[in-house]
Amino acid sequence: MKILVTGSNGLVGSYVVQQLLDAGHQVFASSRTPDLSAFDGHPGYRFIQLDFTDPYMLDAVFEAVQPDVVVHSGAMSKPDDCELNQAEAYKINTAGTLQLLLNAADYKSFFIFLSTDFIFNGKTGMHREDDPADPISYYGRTKLEAEDAVKAYAYEWAIVRTVFVYGKPLYGRDCFVTMIAKKLRNNEAYSLTDDQERTPTYAPDLAKGIAAIIEKKATGVFHLCGKDVRSPYQMAMDVAAFLGIHAHQLKPVRTADLPALAQRPLKSGLDISKAQQLLNYTPLSFGKGMEQTLSGAAGA
Ligand SMILES: NC(=O)c1ccc[n+]([C@@H]2O[C@H](COP(=O)([O-])OP(=O)(O)OC[C@H]3O[C@@H](n4cnc5c(N)ncnc54)[C@H](OP(=O)(O)O)[C@@H]3O)[C@@H](O)[C@H]2O)c1
Repeated sequence: MKILVTGSNGLVGSYVVQQLLDAGHQVFASSRTPDLSAFDGHPGYRFIQLDFTDPYMLDAVFEAVQPDVVVHSGAMSKPDDCELNQAEAYKINTAGTLQLLLNAADYKSFFIFLSTDFIFNGKTGMHREDDPADPISYYGRTKLEAEDAVKAYAYEWAIVRTVFVYGKPLYGRDCFVTMIAKKLRNNEAYSLTDDQERTPTYAPDLAKGIAAIIEKKATGVFHLCGKDVRSPYQMAMDVAAFLGIHAHQLKPVRTADLPALAQRPLKSGLDISKAQQLLNYTPLSFGKGMEQTLSGAAGA
């Protein structure tokens, strides 16, 4: 199938591209900045430098590609950036998604949208797909408004909500696990919240789940994340134990004591039973995913 992926230079997009190439699809990877991948020359791969907030560029790209599937993972993904620059966050996360939906409709493409646990308020945790949304940050609001637009799309669509993604950086940008490993090795002081619950997601698991959605033409909302609940501080302590570093300067703090621009949900893990049943989604434990992230040259 011809698949257009947005945000291919990002953490999620880079794994999605790799997974879809492995599955034999024809992948049109796109990002705002030049290609960071090493897939140039791969017969199934083409990179398109694209700002998806530009309708003229989008028209040209859709006319050239005529995709069967769009995996829209490009976003302004940092909640504090969105809080600080709300106009840009709306333009990229909400208006950009609307524009992509308009173009996708011309080719009746199957539209798959990457969304977030931050559409929930974090009061109860372990949310199921149909729990009521109530974002407490501007980032969460922009993603929820984009979700609403996807749900109104006239053709097939899927919304994939994920949580705190980590994995060996394919293009050199650190993820949480590799960032913490560096801080531990350099004995840097760093504070991490211990009262926020997350279900951290190993990026290759997420990419496999998205490939399964494409293969099965599974539509609707899916929660694709890890199965273990951890706070950021607990994750960091798992990394420290794996590296055998017992003396360090990582410190647990409460969310209320850590200044941040965007409010973050306290309990925000997602329930994955629907994906386990319908997609045969079987994510690794956090321990295994973390070990694989830190094994080999890129994570060392
Ligand atoms: N990472 C997580 O923990 C997490 C958790 C929940 C949900 N999500 C969702 O998962 C998706 C992927 O997240 P991520 O972590 O991979 O984000 P990321 O690493 O920040 O990557 C985002 C990508 O979006 C691209 N992009 C941003 N604005 C663009 C524009 N106007 N035109 C074209 N490309 C644009 C960026 O391109 P350039 O690099 O070329 O500028 C970048 O490649 C997002 O939708 C995010 O909301 C992520």
